[in-house]
Amino acid sequence: EKGGFDHYMLKEIYQQPKTIADAMRGRINAKQGIITLGGINEFENRFLNADRIIIAACGTSWIAGLIGEHLFEDLARIPTEVEYASEFRYRNPIIKNNDIVLAISQSGETADTIAALELARDRDALLYGICNVVGSSIARMTDAGSYIHAGPEIGVASTKAFTGQLVLLTLMALQLARKKGTISSSYFFQLLNELENIPAKVESLLQNDAKIKYVAQEIKDANNALYLGRGYNFPVALEGALKLKEISYIHAEGYPAAEMKHGPIALIDENMPVIVVASNDSTREKVISNIQEVKARKGKVIAIIKEGDQAIEKLVDYAIEIPDTEEPLSPLLSVIPLQLLAYHIAILRDCNVDQPRNLAKSVTVE
Ligand code: M6R
Repeated sequence: EKGGFDHYMLKEIYQQPKTIADAMRGRINAKQGIITLGGINEFENRFLNADRIIIAACGTSWIAGLIGEHLFEDLARIPTEVEYASEFRYRNPIIKNNDIVLAISQSGETADTIAALELARDRDALLYGICNVVGSSIARMTDAGSYIHAGPEIGVASTKAFTGQLVLLTLMALQLARKKGTISSSYFFQLLNELENIPAKVESLLQNDAKIKYVAQEIKDANNALYLGRGYNFPVALEGALKLKEISYIHAEGYPAAEMKHGPIALIDENMPVIVVASNDSTREKVISNIQEVKARKGKVIAIIKEGDQAIEKLVDYAIEIPDTEEPLSPLLSVIPLQLLAYHIAILRDCNVDQPRNLAKSVTVE
């Protein structure tokens, strides 16, 4: 049932060209420029008049929420907040009846996320769910929602569910942006067409796996690692660090690249691998100077770069290429080498990748 792969996690990473396509299937009419998410249509007025979207989630799903915040604000111009469900539920948050509370959960059974929704329901917010498991508690208790249709995710480390969540958040943001007129029609079509190109681009970047395996060999003995990114790719840095911690037991932190000089730079020496997501156009020059700051302190830099970006390639110790894409969609590509890097490092360290110690697939107790 591992389909010829050694582990479920690897199988699930390699399924992503298909699961990303499945998350979009039947929801896009590219010719007419129509996106149809049933849950949004049903509550269209609530969505179009929402003062705010509050995203509540845990772990990797919370990180997907951070990218959702960029998408909703950047494209649909809806103020968005992202909350750890466990903090939100206990801090007497302000929730109004014009707010939408969006729970993101692969399993649909995470106790803290369920409790956050109960609280929001008591305050009359509209509850929306993005889940993978059909018929799960969160899917049932929300007013509306969308499934990601990724199929069962067995590996404890979430991979294909994360990219599925990103597709749904992108579709939601685009559908709302189109209805609200917050992006131009040409940009809307550009993003829509590019979204449909993503599965093939994922397929092509998976072919760089040998290079990623080689890089894993070079950093497998590190005790710490730092992941940096900016903009849409700052949450990807968090996700790369979470994957590494979970399955290889190497301590890792994700940081917005420019925050490095406010603290973590003190940690950098020749033993500190720094993984930089350097594939965004809009912050390219700034990320280059962040890389230079690390190199000046003898840090080892592994960069995720846009295909053919020789200038960054020359600066760093190891470069892993990904195809070019529109920036709001770039996390769908840039996260995948980080999933593979964590996987290969964990294997080299003889760890149980599918069932890491102390972790459960779904956290049904608080
Ligand atoms: O089922 P959920 O998406 O609600 O789970 C949330 C987290 O427990 C989950 O994402 C966890 O962080 C993963 N093990 C990360 O890989």
